[in-house]
Amino acid sequence: MKRILSGIKPTGAPHLGNYFGMMKPAIELQSQGEAFYFIADYHALTTVRDPQAMRDNTRGVALDFLACGLDPKKAVIFRQSDVPEHTELAWILSCVTPMPMLENCHAFKDHVARNQVPVHGLFAYPVLMAADILLYDSNIVPVGRDQKQHVEVTRDIAAVMNRTFGKKEPLFVMPEASILPQMATVIGLDGQKMSKSYNNTVPLFDAEKPLRKKIMSIVTDSTPVESPKDPTHSSIVALYRLFASEGDVATMEADFRAGGQGYGVFKQRLFDALWEHFRPMREKRAELAADPSYVDGVLRDGAERARAVAAKTMARVRLATGLR
Ligand code: ADP
Ligand code: TRP
Repeated sequence: MKRILSGIKPTGAPHLGNYFGMMKPAIELQSQGEAFYFIADYHALTTVRDPQAMRDNTRGVALDFLACGLDPKKAVIFRQSDVPEHTELAWILSCVTPMPMLENCHAFKDHVARNQVPVHGLFAYPVLMAADILLYDSNIVPVGRDQKQHVEVTRDIAAVMNRTFGKKEPLFVMPEASILPQMATVIGLDGQKMSKSYNNTVPLFDAEKPLRKKIMSIVTDSTPVESPKDPTHSSIVALYRLFASEGDVATMEADFRAGGQGYGVFKQRLFDALWEHFRPMREKRAELAADPSYVDGVLRDGAERARAVAAKTMARVRLATGLR
């Protein structure tokens, strides 16, 4: 039985990039193995400074994920900080991780490039992520393209640990990233990668009015209404393609090329398709939200199941390293 594991940070409302890049593939995988999905609050703490926002977003992300079809009977869903073994293993991995391996990682490099002083947690971020993955002997890690490098670092750290402390038998399983090529990077309202940190997202469960406003704010060029438009580089078409049928996409592309319709019309069509696509999930979300203790119960139960696995791995690691 394959182990599947992934995490999402509680840094804001989940958006189309999170959904198509990670949540949907993770939900599809939940019946194909033993799945562990968690809310990465320790990772979020590298940037979040508002404790109430951290609490609210942790519940919010869990609720959105459940509304989208994550099934607590099939997958273990938990909050990272409920399983302190994550930080314990992170320290042990830190002790064998060469600094240059981390200096190359993009989250850290981006901070330095933007002249911000990076916190140590941001530098150590990939080590904590390696601990998340290795703690559960994960085989498959469904993520968006931006996380590929982190899974590669995890494999490098696992190899060092196996060489150093796993001479008789390997201490850790080698994980593989699972990245869907067509969903690799969902672009945002401004044409850049959609990300909670860039303020360019389309959240899955905004109310109708603000959501429509966001779609209407998609950046376009100044081609006049009557002129033909290029669908190949349009963010509107790229987003529409995520959930519209092939036929509907072909129609929109043809309408772009024909001219005579402004971008506003296409944005409206995109909004309608989006609103319909997420209708059943929106209804499920309202149902689940009616019982505020539901999410807490799911997370509590998940933490217990996750800890049982994490404790076993840690016993093995302490023995192999001589800590016991
Ligand atoms: P964000 O970048 O918005 O803060 P996270 O870092 O919490 O999102 O990412 C959670 C998951 O969603 C990761 O697997 C990540 O690769 C995926 N993801 C985030 N943004 C995108 C995107 N624009 N396209 C595809 N996948 C994405
Ligand atoms: N770093 C991931 C992100 O920003 C979230 C994450 C933390 C994760 N730990 C993980 C993803 C382990 C997969 C596996 O999206």
